[in-house]
Amino acid sequence: MKAIIPAAGLGTRFLPETKVEPKELLLLVDRPVIQHIVEEALAAGVDGVVIVNSRSKQAINEHFSPDSELVELLRRRGKEALAAMVEHAGSLPVSFAYQDEPAGLGDAIHCAAQQVGGEPFIVSLGDVVLPDPAVLKRMVELSQEHDGASVIAVVPVPRDEVDRFGVIDGVDLGQGVYRINHMVEKPAVDEAPSNLAIFGRYVLSPAVMEALGHAKPGKGGEIQLTDSLEEVLAKEEMYALVIDPEQGFDTGTPLSWLESNVALALRDPKLGPPLESYLKGLLEK
Ligand code: G1P
Repeated sequence: MKAIIPAAGLGTRFLPETKVEPKELLLLVDRPVIQHIVEEALAAGVDGVVIVNSRSKQAINEHFSPDSELVELLRRRGKEALAAMVEHAGSLPVSFAYQDEPAGLGDAIHCAAQQVGGEPFIVSLGDVVLPDPAVLKRMVELSQEHDGASVIAVVPVPRDEVDRFGVIDGVDLGQGVYRINHMVEKPAVDEAPSNLAIFGRYVLSPAVMEALGHAKPGKGGEIQLTDSLEEVLAKEEMYALVIDPEQGFDTGTPLSWLESNVALALRDPKLGPPLESYLKGLLEK
């Protein structure tokens, strides 16, 4: 099974930082955000990751390419740990597809159709980091338990924030699992069917890729993944797994990126203790 990471966006929320640097390469504690997401998918058992990039963001390709000169230089200087990190980033099983026009999330995913080759697949959105791969693993298991049905991660959000997300309506089957009846992309607050917001991880059946192949533009004039999911829902069952909000980290805005960096760095054995005492000192002032 492959995972697709759409990464062709302009990153406008992070301008001017993203004028040159792709937002996917912004630092999250010790690695670029997108490397966390690639590693999560691999730890959950996928055999390769397809990054859907735009032609102008070659730095992402370079990050995942071998750099033997840098590795040798670091080794000559005795910096073995750094050399191993650089070697690791260049050896991850990542391939690329390209989205030439920003025509929406659904269109971006369909750009990887050939690499996915008619198999079930995962979509991991680049703004959402889940440090524990157990969540994605559980989603794959849940799909297998239900004859390959699609499974979507959802998170409860405050009612007045539902208009920023895809929202599901479903039947509670217990243990955080819902059978989905219906879903809608960015509903008005008073029209949302629930407060369960789609949160960046999808295990999808081949029927979804097929539906994306003939999808028409929806909300915002873009090809919306949620619309194709809704289409497939008419003929296939679909499930949602509720994620504990503490397990997911949003890096999609400057504020949430800063918060995620602080929260995750506090968990890091080396960075955590000095950062904590720095923050305490800062807050006491
Ligand atoms: C996308 C999806 C939306 C989902 C959100 C967060 O929206 O279309 O359904 O809730 O990601 O994972 P975007 O944030 O790209 O507008």
